[in-house]
Amino acid sequence: MIRLERDEMTYSVKLFFEDGHEAAITCEPDEDVITAALRQGLILMSECREGACSTCKCFLADGEYTELLPFSVYALSPSEQEEGYVLACRLRPSSDAEIEFDYPFSMVQQYEETERRGSLDQIEMVSDTVARVVVRTMAAQDPMQYLPGQFVRIALSNGVSRDFSMANVSDDSRRLEFFIRVYPDGEFSSYIARSASSGEGVTLYGPRGKFILRDHDRTPVFIAGGTGLAPVLAMLRRLAADRPAQPSVLIFGNTNVGDVFGADELKVLTEQMPNLQVVSGVINPDDSWTGEVGTVTEIAQKYISGVDSSQFEYYYCGPPKMIEATTQMLESAGVARDLRHHEDFVPSRMENDNG
Ligand SMILES: Cc1cc2nc3c(=O)[nH]c(=O)nc-3n(C[C@H](O)[C@H](O)[C@H](O)COP(=O)(O)OP(=O)(O)OC[C@H]3O[C@@H](n4cnc5c(N)ncnc54)[C@H](O)[C@@H]3O)c2cc1C
Ligand code: FES
Repeated sequence: MIRLERDEMTYSVKLFFEDGHEAAITCEPDEDVITAALRQGLILMSECREGACSTCKCFLADGEYTELLPFSVYALSPSEQEEGYVLACRLRPSSDAEIEFDYPFSMVQQYEETERRGSLDQIEMVSDTVARVVVRTMAAQDPMQYLPGQFVRIALSNGVSRDFSMANVSDDSRRLEFFIRVYPDGEFSSYIARSASSGEGVTLYGPRGKFILRDHDRTPVFIAGGTGLAPVLAMLRRLAADRPAQPSVLIFGNTNVGDVFGADELKVLTEQMPNLQVVSGVINPDDSWTGEVGTVTEIAQKYISGVDSSQFEYYYCGPPKMIEATTQMLESAGVARDLRHHEDFVPSRMENDNG
């Protein structure tokens, strides 16, 4: 009798991955999907497990839930929730369910988190507001292997830790390159710009994230807001090495002319990739500015209006407001959700806002 009641309350959850792979788990009534999958040996993509980071965002194709556990609107917007998206770490199904994940099954156990010690190797301001930082990991550990677009959490020796996306591709050099926006009152970034010195120790946790290049035939359109260029640079550098003839588009937006960075890196990439088109814009131009004017979302909208958007696959990255505006713009343009991939640079101080 007891066993019958328990079976009745255990839900069967089917998981569908981007590469067509399927997996099945069971979920207890008081269990979220990430926890249930872990109990059954599947490490689904997740990071905070508190509804803050959006790494576990997925689509509930079938099934019900009463309400999601508390989460931040920066991780899942009301419109995404209305559309059927959920956060697997916040979802306790109240029926059998089917869930679609926008990454291949090979990601499920492949990228277990590791911890590495490293040191700050180079720190230089590359615009009025952006620092380029190179971290070198210790020779005693294997070099970190990651996919272009992924990020790590960097912990400073003063205890402050933040997430940053690698701008270079993974290799044996032990060098990880980052582009960090410097906020005057930013605990991490102002320390990096004002106080950190070369050789200082850091701890890296990762790699993390599922903002990765999909191996599709479509032309990638990258939309980068400010330091959202970092993971996009890693993706473009991978394409330049593997598929230099690949037609690609980069739309890069900044607020002020003084914020713009990355000219040298983009010059090398356009030389390596003859079919790469780079469109750069700022919101506040000055007399010297010859590029586009407007928000990066407006510039992207101008670019894609009138083209058959189903030929493209969209990768966009930047601060939450830019991500929300770009998602809305692409939705309005009729871009299918499986052709949109984004990384949201949710500031850590917003991570605990429940929405
Ligand atoms: C997955 C992921 C990847 C990331 N990758 C990068 C990266 O490659 N490069 C990068 O520069 N950042 C990246 N970020 C953001 C980064 O982790 C920090 O949140 C950011 O650098 C601010 O940290 P801080 O300690 O300097 O500022 P905090 O001390 O956390 O914030 C201080 C103040 O800075 C201001 N502030 C902070 N963030 C913003 C914002 N987005 N918009 C407006 N004001 C803000 C606010 O006034 C805030 O009160 C990423 C975030 C995530 C979640
Ligand atoms: S792991 Fe679910 S929102 Fe971060």
